[in-house]
Order: sequence, then structure tokens, then C-alpha cells
Amino acid sequence: MKGKICGTGAYVPGNRMDNHQIAAFVETSDEWIKERTGVEARRIASGEETTVSMACAAGRRAIDDAGISVGEIDLIIVSTTSSNLILPCTACEVQRELGAEQATCFDLSAACTGFLLAYNTALAYINCGVYHTALLIGSECLSNLMDWKDRGTCILFGDGAGAVVLKGTEGEMYLPSTRSEGAKGAALTCKSRHDWSNLHDESGAAAMQDPDHRIGMDGQAVFRFALKRVPEVIGEVLQENQLRKEDITLYILHQANKRIVEAVAKRLEEPIEKFPMNMQEYGNTSSASIPILLDELNRSGRLHEGDKLVLAGFGAGLTWGAAVVEW
Ligand code: COA
Repeated sequence: MKGKICGTGAYVPGNRMDNHQIAAFVETSDEWIKERTGVEARRIASGEETTVSMACAAGRRAIDDAGISVGEIDLIIVSTTSSNLILPCTACEVQRELGAEQATCFDLSAACTGFLLAYNTALAYINCGVYHTALLIGSECLSNLMDWKDRGTCILFGDGAGAVVLKGTEGEMYLPSTRSEGAKGAALTCKSRHDWSNLHDESGAAAMQDPDHRIGMDGQAVFRFALKRVPEVIGEVLQENQLRKEDITLYILHQANKRIVEAVAKRLEEPIEKFPMNMQEYGNTSSASIPILLDELNRSGRLHEGDKLVLAGFGAGLTWGAAVVEW
């Protein structure tokens, strides 16, 4: 058995924060951010928007696009590092909201590689007949984890969610290629989660002051890691599946930084046109970035039956990996 993506969906908050707005509270500029990252704006959750509500909205759109009933879903995996609660998991909250009563639900935490690993996990289950129809969601409310005084990180990230429906079908599955290097985990950290809805009380205020509760990053170390490992793992996944670069229609990379995507294209000696990007509008939405981009491409008619895509994720852990998807 193999898995086929038969529906996509996404949700991003309406609240758009551009680089000029960020420059009003940290020392930076639109020019600097655009030049070093490619990001022009990001979406920031507001009002009732949470990791769960965004996941549900993206999930509903993917289910509609797939044309299946909620009752057919027997697996929900939500990839997130910014869940509303520690317990219950986000996937169970999504199940409750969607009424997907037949589904087994769990969260997966592997930062910006999370969606790719959720895809691989569901594929493996489908391949051995455990589940048949999976809803896979990447949803992040990273604005809750930002140190809004740190110009090295707050300029990069944004909120949003993306989802796909993966259905079992006859055929051989492509093997993924994935790696982790825990020894280098200090490059990108966030020590603990906190209920940010209680910011008015003393514990919330104290946690706000504590940088340990916010994302900390050695930007250059992460940059170097991505430049080395992403082309390497894409090469591995092509080799593993006996595919040539010419067989690949598009490379859907995690949307961390335009310069990273451009450098990967260069190292692979592939034209930049095969690397669609949308970080200019959404920033880095961690595990939501790949499914949001996939949904944009799907809805704009850029994906055609039989196209072979490479998905590639990389991020905290350190974790990285690539998978081949046949559309
Ligand atoms: N605005 C203006 N100046 C800034 C700035 C900002 N937002 N952030 C840093 N700078 C300054 C630094 O203080 C430094 O100044 P100095 O030379 O006077 O000390 C200078 O710009 C260069 O800093 P540096 O850290 O070398 O910049 P960089 O070119 O590496 O860009 C990142 C910083 C964070 C954009 C870049 O390292 C990056 O994108 N890394 C990967 C991060 C990532 O993708 N993480 C998620 C992976 S999933």
C-alpha cells in the first residue's frame, strides 16, 4: 500500500504584521529583514485564534477538498510545538471539534521537521494496513513563544496551520530519508510551555520576563546546518528511490529563509523556479509551513496528477528529512 494526498487545507490569521510594524518595537528595518530572510510580513493569532482553532479550520478545508466524510478518518496526527495545553493533546481537541469519532489521535513534536515526520508516520501505518485515512495537520501559534525583544528571532516566525488528507491506495510507497542530531540541540531551544492565556496573573507575568520560556536560537549555526543537511538529505531520498532530479517537478522546502532555499537550489544545481516560496507573506510557521505551501500550490492549480514532489523539513532537535510525494 501507499498513501496518496487527496485533499489540502490551510488557515492563517487575518492579523498581518509587516516588517515596518516590527521595526517600531525592535531595532531592525524592512530592508534588513527582507534581505537576510526574504520575509516581508507574518500573521499573528488574535482574539479566539489558537493552535487548536487554526488546526480545525485547516483540517476542515482539507476534508472538504478531499471530498470525504469526517467518519472515514481513522487517524489524526497534529504536528505542533506550540499547543494550547499540554493535556489533552491538540489532535484530541481537533477530533472533538470535528466530530471525527473513529480516529486515533496524537501529537507529534519535532519542530519544523514535524509535518514531514507526521507524513512519514501516517504513511508507515497505512502501508502496513493499520490505518486507511489520515488527517495530518501542522499548526503553530509561535507568537506565544516569541521573545518580542529579540530581533534575532521575532522577525522570523509567524502563526498558521496547514493540513492534508492522506488515503491508502494500491502501489509501492516511496521511502523517506530522515535524520536527527540531539547533540546539537542547543542551537534552537524553548525550555517550557506556559498557559499564555493567564498573562494577567503573577506567574504569567514572571514567565514573560524569563527568556527560558521563549525561543532562543543561534541563527548562524542553524543556517549552516540547513545549508549542509538539506541538500544532502534530498540527494539521499532521490537515491533511495532511484529517482533523478529531472523526475522532480517541485521541491517544497520548509519556509525558514529565502537565502536557505536559494542556497539549497544552487547546491542541488536545480533551477530556483522548482522551489516555490511563500515565507515573504507568512514568515516561518514551523511545522505548518510545508502544508500551507502545499495547499497554496494545490488551490492555484500548480500541481498535476503524477507530479513528483520532494518535501523537505529541518529545524530544532536538530532534525531534518525529505520525502517524495506523487501527486
Ligand atoms: N535587524 C537588524 N540587524 C540585526 C538583526 C535584525 N533583525 N538581527 C541581527 N542583526 C545584526 C546583528 O546584531 C549583527 O550586528 P553586528 O555585526 O553589529 O554584531 C548583524 O546584524 C549580523 O548578525 P548575524 O547574526 O550574523 O546575521 P545573519 O546574517 O546570520 O542573519 C538570521 C541572522 C537569524 C536572519 C540568520 O542567521 C538566519 O536566518 N538563520 C537561520 C535561522 C532559521 O532559519 N531558524 C529556523 C530554522 S527552522
